[in-house]
Amino acid sequence: MPPKLLILNGPNLNLLGTREPETYGHATLADLEAALRAAFPEVTLAFFQSNHEGALIDRLHEAFREGLDGVVFNPGAYTHTSVALRDAIAAISIPVVEVHLSNVYAREAFRHQSLLAPVCTGTLCGFGMAGYHLAVRAILGFGF
Ligand code: DQA
Repeated sequence: MPPKLLILNGPNLNLLGTREPETYGHATLADLEAALRAAFPEVTLAFFQSNHEGALIDRLHEAFREGLDGVVFNPGAYTHTSVALRDAIAAISIPVVEVHLSNVYAREAFRHQSLLAPVCTGTLCGFGMAGYHLAVRAILGFGF
């Protein structure tokens, strides 16, 4: 069975390409999807983006129920605020890798804390879209 992963993106990431390009670059979410599908043809990839906390929680639960092998998750600003997303990640026993396009530690102090990182398998930040590729590789390296 090919590995199955979910690429999950949170609030405002639907605006990639036009949103603060000096921070997040010019590539869109559709560009990311095309690049990941091209890079990992052997992996079944599902993509989901929502601006709503509850929808992200529901999708994490579903990923677990579906038996996915892992989740690459850019939680956007919810990283710094959401106890509910932290609890959702803690509730599912599949690897979740937290990814940020920007180096959050080089930015405002409120971005230096992640409520989610302690319950994630690992975190990548500051590598732009390459971070998603690295996160997929990390999950594949867990033994598939
Ligand atoms: C982000 C970093 C967050 O602090 C911010 O709120 C985002 C994007 C990133 O990918 O760098 O929305 O997750």
